[in-house]
Amino acid sequence: MSTTRYIRIFDTTLRDGEQAPGASMNRAEKLEVARQLAKLQVDVIEAGFPVASPDDFDAVRAIAREVEGARVCGLARAIENDVRVCWDAVRHAEAPRIHTFISTSAVHMKYQIRKTPDEVKADTRAMVTLAAELAATRAEADVEFSAMDASRSEPEFLAEVLGIAVEAGATTINIPDTVGYAQPLEFGDFIRELYRLCPALADVTVSCHCHDDLGLAVANSLAAVRAGATQVECAVNGIGERAGNASLEEVVMAIRTRGDYFAAETGVKTDEIARTSRLVSNVTGYAIQPNKAIVGRNAFAHESGIHQDGILKEASTFEIMRAADVGLAESDLVLGKHSGRHALRAKLADLGYELSDAELDEAFRRFKDVADKKKEVTLLDLEALVGEEIRERQDLFTLRSFVSQSGSAIIPTSQVEIEVRGRVRRGKSFSNGTVESVFKAIDDAVRMKGSLADYQVRAISEGKDALAEVRVAVTVNGETYNGQAVSFDVMEASAKAYVRAMNNAAGAQGRERLQARAAATAKGQ
Ligand code: KIV
Ligand code: ZN
Repeated sequence: MSTTRYIRIFDTTLRDGEQAPGASMNRAEKLEVARQLAKLQVDVIEAGFPVASPDDFDAVRAIAREVEGARVCGLARAIENDVRVCWDAVRHAEAPRIHTFISTSAVHMKYQIRKTPDEVKADTRAMVTLAAELAATRAEADVEFSAMDASRSEPEFLAEVLGIAVEAGATTINIPDTVGYAQPLEFGDFIRELYRLCPALADVTVSCHCHDDLGLAVANSLAAVRAGATQVECAVNGIGERAGNASLEEVVMAIRTRGDYFAAETGVKTDEIARTSRLVSNVTGYAIQPNKAIVGRNAFAHESGIHQDGILKEASTFEIMRAADVGLAESDLVLGKHSGRHALRAKLADLGYELSDAELDEAFRRFKDVADKKKEVTLLDLEALVGEEIRERQDLFTLRSFVSQSGSAIIPTSQVEIEVRGRVRRGKSFSNGTVESVFKAIDDAVRMKGSLADYQVRAISEGKDALAEVRVAVTVNGETYNGQAVSFDVMEASAKAYVRAMNNAAGAQGRERLQARAAATAKGQ
């Protein structure tokens, strides 16, 4: 009989991941990411925090209704309205989950939620019971309970709260290291101690949720798996609150590569990892560092002669995983100048894009444009162009054209045309640098003021004819918004990336205004 344990992968890219500064995604982007997570075959998609805003609610509900193949979960504080709103958002999913949480550490109870330990126990019982009653109306629904700041909680008290949650109907119990304070050996022992203090844990799924403040989120998660946890909460590229969450790709590949050590496996389709990672990077604007484990550009590059020699003789000398295992070996040639619409449609379908005829026409136009300038159109090029085209369709502002004049003897001057709801707005500006003058011209056209916090350029693939990718972080009214875009022309990619960041800012600030108006109306003002 096999003793291999199945470890559930609970992806929180769309909830905790989205809490990373500037990483906010619109509804269409969240749906695109959720569909890809389902293709990656994660077990649970935490789609958002429905009570946080009408947009969050809407995105969670859309994912619950439209995405198949994974359990869809929403987060709720242990507050009645949160739990009910959460259920409304997730209940149409194939398999819905309410994830409710309350703090259990002394410092959080005293200063953050201002509740006594008895009140925390009472709220846990009442809200898990409510969540379980709501979930009981659908056979496939279930309830998860999290004890926030569990790793800094007093074990006996925590065990008591967890016991109450199980008794009230939670079938997954999550032990978060909310502030990334735990150390791997200690965290493993902590989980073992909780199993001892709370025997009811033996009958439910024990989960971990680790933050990376000390760079230990993955190590702590794996220590929890060794100690008996069978669910790991993680985010693609490790994005999330502050230093982020445990990185999904690292957790999954550690369990796969060292299945012997963990006696465990996940259901993740690992050759979808690289693609998922690129998608999340593009929609959040968070670049992947070249030496990032598993998905970094250099993760499988053997530089030293000794290593290369070893690999040629026998790959296992220096290779513990193959690039193909994570879907990284696919940046080869896919289509050429003479490829037709059918070939493009088939390739895009492979990538998961089902396009209407009109969308295919536009994708084909962009493809031809690239194929005319570049001999080989790679999968990475296609993904970047079509993904951008799909995302642009949701935007309020679209760059129609720009003109820049620059040189060593003149002051750089730029003019732009931006389409806003079918009308063209023009903007112009001059500045000390060309890039800055384009950005100021865009500010002029969109009537918002952004200040550049970060600017990065890189080539999408190899060769002088490669597409350029630009990422920007722009601060608007004290909040940071990311933007990413590709083009053959670095200035055009810069302008588009800046416009995308301004779209994110306009979306977020528009939502805030609507919410403020709704709150004022509710108060009768
Ligand atoms: O970090 C944390 O404790 C959380 C909980 C809401 C699970 O994100
Ligand atoms: Zn968290």
